[in-house]
Amino acid sequence: MPWFKSQSFRTRLTLQWLLVFGVLLALALTAVYFGMRQSLYHSLEDSLRTLAGTEVASSMDGPEVHLHPIDSIAIINSHHIEKFVQILTPDYTVINQSKQLQSRAPLVSREVMQTALAGRAVLSEVTLNGEKGLGLSVDAYKQYVFVVAVPLSDIEGTLAALWRTLLIVGVIALLATGLVGYRLATLALRPVDLMTQRAQLIGRDHLKARLAEPVTDDELSRLAHVLNEMLDRLYQIIESHQKFAADASHELRSPLTSLRSRLEVALRRTRSAEEYRQVIVDSLSEVERLTRLAEDLLELARSDAQRLTLDLSEFELQPLIASEIARLQPEASQRQVKLTSEVSPTLNVIADEARLRRVVSNFLSNAIHYSKPEGGEVKVTAGNGSSDVWIEIRDDGIGLDAEQQQRIFERFWRADSARGIRTGGAGLGLAICHEIARAHGGQINITSQPGQGTAFRLCLPAQIES
Ligand SMILES: Nc1ncnc2c1ncn2[C@@H]1O[C@H](COP(=O)(O)OP(=O)(O)O)[C@@H](O)[C@H]1O
Ligand SMILES: [Mg+2]
Repeated sequence: MPWFKSQSFRTRLTLQWLLVFGVLLALALTAVYFGMRQSLYHSLEDSLRTLAGTEVASSMDGPEVHLHPIDSIAIINSHHIEKFVQILTPDYTVINQSKQLQSRAPLVSREVMQTALAGRAVLSEVTLNGEKGLGLSVDAYKQYVFVVAVPLSDIEGTLAALWRTLLIVGVIALLATGLVGYRLATLALRPVDLMTQRAQLIGRDHLKARLAEPVTDDELSRLAHVLNEMLDRLYQIIESHQKFAADASHELRSPLTSLRSRLEVALRRTRSAEEYRQVIVDSLSEVERLTRLAEDLLELARSDAQRLTLDLSEFELQPLIASEIARLQPEASQRQVKLTSEVSPTLNVIADEARLRRVVSNFLSNAIHYSKPEGGEVKVTAGNGSSDVWIEIRDDGIGLDAEQQQRIFERFWRADSARGIRTGGAGLGLAICHEIARAHGGQINITSQPGQGTAFRLCLPAQIES
């Protein structure tokens, strides 16, 4: 029913309620009507029987059959009612009848008369001077059949009046129920209306607006509460994306500014080939830094869009760690940091090799940069448990306090103590490590003491569901 579906919830609720109530009411009122009708007819029949008895008795008390002296009025249900009597002989002839009967034709059929003669009182519909009536035919000593009848106009009038009353009651009850139902539905849905209005407000300009939570502790207040919590979560996501975008543009701007000023200075006058070469070399390193940053941002964006697809394979861990150590060795030597590793050559891992290399490289370069500047030591160990493989990179450097450990995976976050140390990083390395670990179904644990050193442990599940 498209019309019904296009109505408001409140109207549909009211209509459905009205329909159910209407059907029940109609059933109840019909039952009342027919119950009443049956009881009226029953007592009328009883009265007819009594009347027939007295008629027969009083008519047969003389030598000849005659009519009751009071021939026109019977008292039925304490009502004065016109009565009609007709006396038939077995040959279907009327031998006597009430004066007010205009026709002398028998009131009942021959069959009815026969049945009555056989000793059974028969009720039948009769026509009394053109009007509908109810007649009872009884036999009197097998010689006559007495037909006693009364018109039905009285009883039918009562029933019609009852029907009208019930109809009026029904219509009033339906109207009242409809109104009350609509009002109740309106009241019940008012909090929903309020929520709808508030929800329409929430948008770009009103991100912090929240739905009004009804003070009651019911389904609607729970709904509003849950929706508000959802809005809070969405707000946090939007906020962190905004911050991410702002931080990203800031981080991109500084290398670009420095590149630009370097090039402008170089252009100010004519320089030797060696000077130009130096400018190009410096610019190239700035460009490299920008490229790294752009790649990092891209990796995080992919991870946010759940599009960090892993290229899984099983490989030996030891060569990977050895090659990363070799790659970072010059940097470590420059800072006089000793790199050691203790990894079993038989240890295998299932992972995305390029991404695992990235995690190890990030951990290692952090450890080199944040370890003791002179005479520091960085140690790589790895092993496996029953269901996981772990890699740990431990340094004896500046360390992190509890609060810093909490924030370490935030994008662009760098501890104040790290600011003076030039790493070329923008604070995205660990955020990416975190996303890579998560994509593998693994995790990163930190143990650290300020001033003592830090250990990062990456745990990967031995079996990875890709
Ligand atoms: N081994 C470590 N020891 C102490 N602090 C560390 C270590 N590794 C990371 N940190 C802290 O975490 C911050 C974030 O690290 P990272 O995401 O790799 O960014 P970046 O190296 O670019 O600063 C660093 O700036 C530093 O403050
Ligand atoms: Mg780093």
